[in-house]
Amino acid sequence: MKELALKHLAIIMDGNGRWAKERGLSRTKGHEKGANVIRDITTYCAKDPEIESVTFYAFSTENWKRPKLEVEFLMKLLDSYLKKELKTYQDNGVRFQAIGDINAFSAKLQKRIQDTQDATKENTNLTQMLALNYGGRAEIITTVNALIAKGKMILNEDDISTHLQTPYSDIDLLIRTSGEERISNFLLWQLSYAEFYFTQTLWPDFTAKELKDIISQYKTRTRKFGGLA
Ligand code: IPE
Ligand code: IPE
Ligand code: MG
Repeated sequence: MKELALKHLAIIMDGNGRWAKERGLSRTKGHEKGANVIRDITTYCAKDPEIESVTFYAFSTENWKRPKLEVEFLMKLLDSYLKKELKTYQDNGVRFQAIGDINAFSAKLQKRIQDTQDATKENTNLTQMLALNYGGRAEIITTVNALIAKGKMILNEDDISTHLQTPYSDIDLLIRTSGEERISNFLLWQLSYAEFYFTQTLWPDFTAKELKDIISQYKTRTRKFGGLA
């Protein structure tokens, strides 16, 4: 039987707060540890010749509802992550791209995001997308409005698929950590026929070894896309 392809992996990184709480630490410590896991998983994906893109949900359009201090911490963490990771991106041939509406961020952070995208744009081993101020509904609305503004009156599926911020491919496999089983407004359009995997592991405890096992399990599945096996 032909092995399932895995070109585009998406991950909802969840459980940073609970990981910290279990240890009597502040939630921010969980976010810090979680950022290190993004590096490990990205490096692993860059070495897998089959995976072309990995998209991480880092900050949703709904996450602004969190306490101001936590939101500010996450913004600072993102800035220092991108600064520190530039070397990792270059060493591993990883192209970085943000998806979501980054206009809501500070000018400094927007510049960091833009500069990192520019500096890594020639890298071809893997595209790492970070979903930042991202919402699946917002993305679809933005896409539709942009097409209307261009004079499109009637849209088809291809119009939307090719004008989203993530036009590369549909998602093959979505992983959500921490035992929660929801999409939480992640890539609504692109997840249309994705395989789902939910693990109890909290994001800061997630490892490349677990990812490897999940991918092996995914490879045994049958994807029929509505047809017959
Ligand atoms: C995921 O961990 C990180 C972000 C959403 C930024 P959480 O912060 O949601 O962790 P829990 O769900 O409270 O444990
Ligand atoms: C989803 O996690 C968003 C990110 C991982 C960035 P949340 O923890 O914010 O989602 P809900 O509130 O449990 O749905
Ligand atoms: Mg959560």
